[in-house]
Amino acid sequence: MSESISILELMIKDHCKLENLVEDLEKKSKEDFETMYRAFTKFEWELEKHIFTEEKAIFTSYNPEDVAEGYKMLPELTKQHNYILNTLNNWHSDIRKKKMLSDVYSFKEYLVKHREFEEEKVYPKLEESLSDEEKRHIIAKINELV
Ligand SMILES: [Fe+2]
Ligand SMILES: [Fe+2]
Repeated sequence: MSESISILELMIKDHCKLENLVEDLEKKSKEDFETMYRAFTKFEWELEKHIFTEEKAIFTSYNPEDVAEGYKMLPELTKQHNYILNTLNNWHSDIRKKKMLSDVYSFKEYLVKHREFEEEKVYPKLEESLSDEEKRHIIAKINELV
């Protein structure tokens, strides 16, 4: 059984995909509505799927060894995800009203910080705390979803 691919590596790939999509949305939010709408729909779908995967397939298995630190990290992560999902919802209703999105740039910056938090703190801690069996199980779930 190959252990060469880690949860972190898989999710970094997905983070790159999302970063390209938000980059594209930022560009297209300065064009016409239809073009922006198509970019938004794709980005929204991929980002919601990503967060669903993280919350339902990955972090539910997190049993931190260092409980104090672990339980500080999870509420922070949830807070950030809620902010992201809220923004998506607001944008979704703007789009329904045929409004152009403004300030995609700030959201893009937020996503970069969120990604760094996950890649530098959350995922390394998570992987430390998992057995190979648990990792295989999670990787299989990720592959179903992303
Ligand atoms: Fe996330
Ligand atoms: Fe993520």
